[in-house]
Amino acid sequence: MKRLDGKPCYPTWPSSGALESTYLNEVLNSGKWGGSGGSYLPDYKHKIPEFEEKFARFQDADHGVTVVNGTLAITVALQAAGVKPLDEVIMPPYTFIATATSALLFGAIPVFVDVEEDTLLIDPEKVEQAITPKTKAIVAVHIGGTPADLDRLKEIAEKNDLVLIEDAAQAVGAEWKGQGVGAIGDLGTFSFQSSKNLTSGEGGIILSNNKKLADKAWSLANVGRVRDGSWYQHEEIGWNLRMTEFQAAILLGQMSRLENQIELRNRNAKLFTELLSSVEGIQLFKEDSRVTRNGYHLFMFYLDKALSDRVDKSQFVKMLSEQGVPSSTGYTAINKYDSIIRSIKEWTGKEPDFHCPIAEQMGDRQVVWITHTVLLGDEKGIVYAAEAIKNVVQSYL
Ligand SMILES: Cc1ncc(COP(=O)(O)O)c(C=O)c1O
Repeated sequence: MKRLDGKPCYPTWPSSGALESTYLNEVLNSGKWGGSGGSYLPDYKHKIPEFEEKFARFQDADHGVTVVNGTLAITVALQAAGVKPLDEVIMPPYTFIATATSALLFGAIPVFVDVEEDTLLIDPEKVEQAITPKTKAIVAVHIGGTPADLDRLKEIAEKNDLVLIEDAAQAVGAEWKGQGVGAIGDLGTFSFQSSKNLTSGEGGIILSNNKKLADKAWSLANVGRVRDGSWYQHEEIGWNLRMTEFQAAILLGQMSRLENQIELRNRNAKLFTELLSSVEGIQLFKEDSRVTRNGYHLFMFYLDKALSDRVDKSQFVKMLSEQGVPSSTGYTAINKYDSIIRSIKEWTGKEPDFHCPIAEQMGDRQVVWITHTVLLGDEKGIVYAAEAIKNVVQSYL
């Protein structure tokens, strides 16, 4: 599809179909709107448990607990795994701020270790070096939809008696060695915020293969109640983080198209990769053969060092956007955020000193994001986007 100015028109996001309307109306007429209480319709099938089961199965997990968003999904996962205030949680700095705030919100301390330059994912060797007696957990972020090295991280976690949590907010549909991500670590979390590849506007889920951890997560997200316990039996201090039946209705509708969308993104990403692999001045991230399916929330590339020394990344992205390619400068490394440094200092009394030059340089000067909607278009749109990137790069050579 083309716009009047000849530029391609990529699909808008989010998208919806007739199923979402049907399911939303079913919820509306059922009398069961929230995540607690029953319906006045006999035999009515509640959407939240249906979605939790369906999504957990989709990601090869045994248990799913829905919550209000992806940030508090990580908080609950950390707390369910026994992380307490002042415990250290190792994580990468090239991520959304929520990966760190989820810990800081209850006084757990993020410890940032750098990413690998050729993957932008947490560097397992640096994880090992950062472990102290206070370390309780590792959060692996599958940035852009690409799984981190789960084999190495699991090995390190097991050897050091740490919990491994997957922040899979951007990795719906991603697979590591043929297995869906999310329950490969002890717990995994997803976000259903508006931009995400599966969305209900806001929302999140915690997955696990460990029933005890899943039950604990459920309790923390349900005011400390006990699954199958009585209504006023509160055995934990928990939050009310339940999503609504309306959100689950939308998510169930979205799931009917999810598999096809993931396949389309992967097919188009393959073509995009082929077209961009020989463009002088930019680099693509290394593909690990153990990543058997990418979630492709983002298609990322980076300006090579020589080009990035001369190019203002914001200007580069502005030129790309002007050519009609949805793109962004993306994250800057969160270990530099004043709010995070201040918060760590407030909890620990000490000024943190993180050394993450790769994430800082990549975030500030090199990484460019192409939005997943480009991958939902047709091949012509991919060819157009690749040409546009090439043209912008060439204007600097
Ligand atoms: C990597 C990552 N972690 C956590 C989150 C937090 O999710 P939410 O916005 O649903 O709270 C997001 C989403 O924005 C994310 O991209």
